[in-house]
Amino acid sequence: MSDSGRTFTTVGVVGLGTMGAGIAEVFARHGFSVVGVEQNDEALARGRQHLENSTARAVRRSKLSEEEQAELLGRISLTTDLTDLAEADLVVEAVVESVEVKKQIFRDLDAIVRTETILATNTSSLSVTEISTANTSPGRVVGVHFFNPAPVQDLVEVVRTVVTDPVVLDDVTELLARIGKQPVVCGDKAGFIANTLLFGYLNHAVSMFEARYASREDIDAAMRFGCGYPMGPLALLDLIGLDTAYEILETMYRQGRDRLHAPAPILKQMVTAGMLGRKTGRGFYTYDGPDSPATV
Ligand code: 3HC
Repeated sequence: MSDSGRTFTTVGVVGLGTMGAGIAEVFARHGFSVVGVEQNDEALARGRQHLENSTARAVRRSKLSEEEQAELLGRISLTTDLTDLAEADLVVEAVVESVEVKKQIFRDLDAIVRTETILATNTSSLSVTEISTANTSPGRVVGVHFFNPAPVQDLVEVVRTVVTDPVVLDDVTELLARIGKQPVVCGDKAGFIANTLLFGYLNHAVSMFEARYASREDIDAAMRFGCGYPMGPLALLDLIGLDTAYEILETMYRQGRDRLHAPAPILKQMVTAGMLGRKTGRGFYTYDGPDSPATV
């Protein structure tokens, strides 16, 4: 129970792509009942696969026993029906970065969840304020921006709009700390704290690669071995997804007009060619599968 007396038992996650599945796993790992929603059976099967792969990795690394894995997965129910979120105390939306798609979900949730249910969006660069206006109670809407891979990265940016109820903000922040995350609070500006700082750097690395200034391996090695980053910028872009990275840069550039965020032309070309990174097996590097190391 939080200081305000609000209790969280059931968490809904809408969208079970890489981020949504990771978020569902984190809550289930901490004992919450999770309802995961996808738009069709195919997407639901992909979400289930994400969850199984990620928890199987934890079993391989002796972080979970097989029994605990089964219990964790047993706490997650999967559905294609948004109305199954009726009992949720918190709903985290993690669908595609489209303001219209997100607004429709927040509109639909109005008639489904209780009035005290908190609604959160995992958007990385869209306006939380605009998304919140689709709901009749925008005061209960916050951003909760997880980082990839969500089960591993501790940071969650909690984004407040000018109308977010301070109690909702406190309750969400407290809940995130309870599930082992490090919440930081910020205002509603494209990119929030981390992406604003990170993506100028990532974009610069792409420009360097595009200009053939150095090889991809050497660009990545420079930042890993010179600056202690866990991954080089091009390998990190493959993990994030080049389509996601392009959208984030575009949105930040449109809003801030900082030329650091004007997407390097090759990024768009790679996205158009379907080279989205790990998820399609090819980006700056080539992969046998989404979880395998780079092969080329
Ligand atoms: N899902 C779940 N767990 C994973 C994982 C995944 N996809 N990838 C790695 N892990 C876990 C491993 O199981 C291991 O767990 P353990 O320590 O409990 O055994 C741990 O992470 C370390 O994994 P590895 O030893 O296999 O590999 P590394 O030590 O190289 O770590 C990494 C991999 C965690 C991805 C690390 O390289 C890293 O932190 N990279 C930087 C990631 C980053 O910057 N993310 C932020 C991107 S920006 C963003 O997300 C914002 C969004 O808006 C785009």
